[in-house]
Amino acid sequence: MEHITAAEYNRITAETRDARMKWFKEARFGMFVHYGLFSHFGSGEWCMAQQNYTIEEYEQYARAFSPKPGCTDEWCALAKKAGAKYAVLTTRHHEGFSLWKSDANPYNSWNYCGRDLVQEFVDSCRKYGLRIGLYSSVMDWHHPDGWRCVYDPDARRRFTDYIEALNTELLTRYGKIDILWYDMPHPMRHSESWDSINRNHRLRQLQPDILINNRSKLPEDFSTPEESVDPEDRYWEACMTFNGISWGYLDSEQAAAYSYTPQQILRMMNTCCSNGGNLLLNIGPMADGTVPPEAIAPLETVGRWLEVNGEAVYGMKPNINGSFNGCTVNGSSASEDRKTVYLWNRIWLKKPTMQLGGFMSAPKSVSFLATGEPIDFEMDGHRLILKNLPTEIPDKIAGITVIKLEFDEEAKYKFMSYYPHTNYGINLAGDLVQN
Ligand code: GLC
Repeated sequence: MEHITAAEYNRITAETRDARMKWFKEARFGMFVHYGLFSHFGSGEWCMAQQNYTIEEYEQYARAFSPKPGCTDEWCALAKKAGAKYAVLTTRHHEGFSLWKSDANPYNSWNYCGRDLVQEFVDSCRKYGLRIGLYSSVMDWHHPDGWRCVYDPDARRRFTDYIEALNTELLTRYGKIDILWYDMPHPMRHSESWDSINRNHRLRQLQPDILINNRSKLPEDFSTPEESVDPEDRYWEACMTFNGISWGYLDSEQAAAYSYTPQQILRMMNTCCSNGGNLLLNIGPMADGTVPPEAIAPLETVGRWLEVNGEAVYGMKPNINGSFNGCTVNGSSASEDRKTVYLWNRIWLKKPTMQLGGFMSAPKSVSFLATGEPIDFEMDGHRLILKNLPTEIPDKIAGITVIKLEFDEEAKYKFMSYYPHTNYGINLAGDLVQN
């Protein structure tokens, strides 16, 4: 087996990283799908461990596993409609049940119900034009070495071979795969114990463009803050449940009250695209694969909003630390050349004028992003005054109206907290600039 040093591996992966990450950065928004035997319980994807099921008891549920025909199409159609550009499926969660026709793992959906859900998922992603991410748990509650690997070197070798065999199947049998999304490198604590560098190096040779996340005890291509949209100073993707409670299916009637609204989802997306990150938003389908009904309307609304406001979200967006707000009730994002600023009016003031402070130069044009309709404006010092605005909220889809400001040069913005005591401001790259 081929071995590689950490330094060499880091060098090789760093060399191609920006090029490999390009589509991902431009995509901004993906859908996570947590599906497996756990979906039956309606009490979260950790139920096997949390409810102390023995392997034999839990295997009963594999016998009852029966996804309805076409469920992966339903997930991907919704992802597409929501404006997501990629989808990530839990091909094997911690419970150890593989959702594909695996040779390495006989405990799989093909052997129990004659379905290769990874194949179906991959086909659906291609049908709906989504990039493909495959989630693969490192921890395994079903495999006999899944825990023994901690103290028994032979078990460790068998188990890391097993993890490699599973992922080799995923990366060789289904055509081009875009993301390998590892999760939970437990119970061992170091990448050396997991042999992550050598394994990932070999896996990358199977899919040279693959992106790998940071959950095999290596930083790899991108970070994965979980359940909080916490920007990092490298490539990052925030993964979020739909309800702040569970990744796996929860009783829809009760989960609905905790589910995100379109406004909350768009706010998360705003934080992502103004801080250099992505949003991976989860759905947890029911036992038969049906999309949880409470997720449908919010996601469709987000999709309709993105249809007319997508320019503020998709594509290369610089990290502007969310700074260009003008007014605290707004969010912002900017174009790659920083000459266009998008103001996300989460609250519309319902007044004919709007005053935005801190601008160090005048825009050449101001307009509504959704309609292209121009907005009258004038400058007064660092203040940009928008005039003759509608007193009703212009955006009828989600109540978040985006105003597009176009500048001849890179937009410059003044430190709000120092105003009006200094003539210094910052540009969108965060450099100090003088008025
Ligand atoms: C955690 C959980 C897991 C979930 C994952 C998603 O690691 O263990 O259940 O799939 O987060 O990010």
